[in-house]
Amino acid sequence: MKALCEKPRIENVTNHGIAEELLEKVMAVALEFFRLPPEEKEKLYSDEPSKKIRLSTSFNVRKETVHNWRDYLRLHCHPLEEFVPEWPSNPAQFKEIMSTYCREVRQLGLRLLGAISVSLGLEEDYIEKVLGEQEQHMAVNYYPRCPEPDLTYGLPKHTDPNALTILLPDPHVAGLQVLRDGDQWIVVNPRPNALVVNLGDQIQALSNGTYKSVWHRAVVNAVQERMSVASFMCPCNSAVISPARKLVADGDAPVYRSFTYDEYYKKFWSRNLDQEHCLELFKGQ
Ligand code: OGA
Ligand code: NI
Repeated sequence: MKALCEKPRIENVTNHGIAEELLEKVMAVALEFFRLPPEEKEKLYSDEPSKKIRLSTSFNVRKETVHNWRDYLRLHCHPLEEFVPEWPSNPAQFKEIMSTYCREVRQLGLRLLGAISVSLGLEEDYIEKVLGEQEQHMAVNYYPRCPEPDLTYGLPKHTDPNALTILLPDPHVAGLQVLRDGDQWIVVNPRPNALVVNLGDQIQALSNGTYKSVWHRAVVNAVQERMSVASFMCPCNSAVISPARKLVADGDAPVYRSFTYDEYYKKFWSRNLDQEHCLELFKGQ
């Protein structure tokens, strides 16, 4: 695995140990799912964010006034035995391919969390212990061709509310952009066999702001559809998140107050993406 840079916010990670063939199968079966006839897919449609499996569109259709050019299938993935029976059985290989991928992504995520702990000068298992029995969610994103791409986004500017996101990007079509220095959008070009790893809000909180969760967005285009598969490592709902004591200088107050992930997640989904960073609402004592 490529070494993490000093303050990783988003990384194109290669040598991650997940077979290229599996990544190809994941993309293929995901595309096959979105190619199913609407009657087949509509059974899964829901705009209720708390549902553990749902097909939806845009980002949060209940809260937003302007919609985005994205369809997505959101799945809970851990423990697999609990959720896989509810997953789509069409395409026939969906469950098998996606559950194999989920297991491998989880192992990678746990390794990365260990590396991030060490990079902060904490015990290797520090973050894993704080996050508890982590949930794992997946968003299979499908961005159709858009006749007027300048009028919308696939996903507008946001940070991910969870701990760590491992994104399998479309190998052929760029669309992900990352904000640098507050005003520069950098295109993340897909690299063969690479996964994109970005830090979410919980790592920012736990690290007392040493690591920043990355602002990113997805743009669409008029020529080609685009897919991505995002895997979200999430603290368990009851995990209490607060800045690691070791990272708060003597005499200083921590940047963020303690909160449960449940509280944070509800706050995140009660808002639209065009607002300030959700963590701003958790500043102070
Ligand atoms: C996400 C996300 C980016 C992409 O699902 O949270 O940021 O390129 N996706 O699809
Ligand atoms: Ni995101």
